[in-house]
Amino acid sequence: FGGGILAGVSVLISAGPTREPIDPVRYISNRSSGKMGYAIAEAAARAGAKVSLVTGPTALKTPPVNEVTWVESSEEMYRCVMSKVPFADIYIGAAAVADYAPETIADRKIKKNQSEMVLRLRKTQDILSAVSASPKRPFTVGFAAETDNLEDYAREKLATKALDMVAANWVGRDKGGFENDDNALFVCWNGGDTYLPLASKKTIAEQLIRLIAERYHAQNSA
Ligand code: C5P
Repeated sequence: FGGGILAGVSVLISAGPTREPIDPVRYISNRSSGKMGYAIAEAAARAGAKVSLVTGPTALKTPPVNEVTWVESSEEMYRCVMSKVPFADIYIGAAAVADYAPETIADRKIKKNQSEMVLRLRKTQDILSAVSASPKRPFTVGFAAETDNLEDYAREKLATKALDMVAANWVGRDKGGFENDDNALFVCWNGGDTYLPLASKKTIAEQLIRLIAERYHAQNSA
């Protein structure tokens, strides 16, 4: 696949969910399976890229890439990704990073001795925005999952997070996305957009890697 369109290019990919600890036995997480991110990592490797994958907990087989680093919380993912950004030509943020995490983590298991309990959450750091704001910034690709106004939110994300590309998928409409083996994407960048119709995540990943390679090379030869 790809005829080496990313030969010699270093690609950093984040994938999977994060787990935000509440106490030593409990956490907050989401339904991300990691399938899309892993498929992108594999497609990038087959296109000749040097791939580093930073992954939250998944049930998937480790893909054949140069380096795989397992993390759990959004904070760990943030630190790991930022430590690798200086070595990346392209960053693809495919992880479903938790937006909020418990403000404090209990040292001991919380007992069920109250009829109600309140969990205070704080906003997590936006890894994608931090990558795009970093010095020696890589070509930065973000994901969006929306239930409505997908195209508008995707374009807004491109602008507000200062990204080079956004890949957006519908959720909750039998159109792929979370936990599914298939996916469909709306992809936009500065100056263009396209639809990748419902197909296996493997096919979608290959098409996305082609688009990323095209835009990356166009920017670097400009
Ligand atoms: O703003 P929203 O969460 O919808 O944006 C999704 C994109 O931002 C994804 O690419 C996701 O990996 C990234 N993200 C991040 N850090 C966060 C939240 C989202 O990198 N704390």
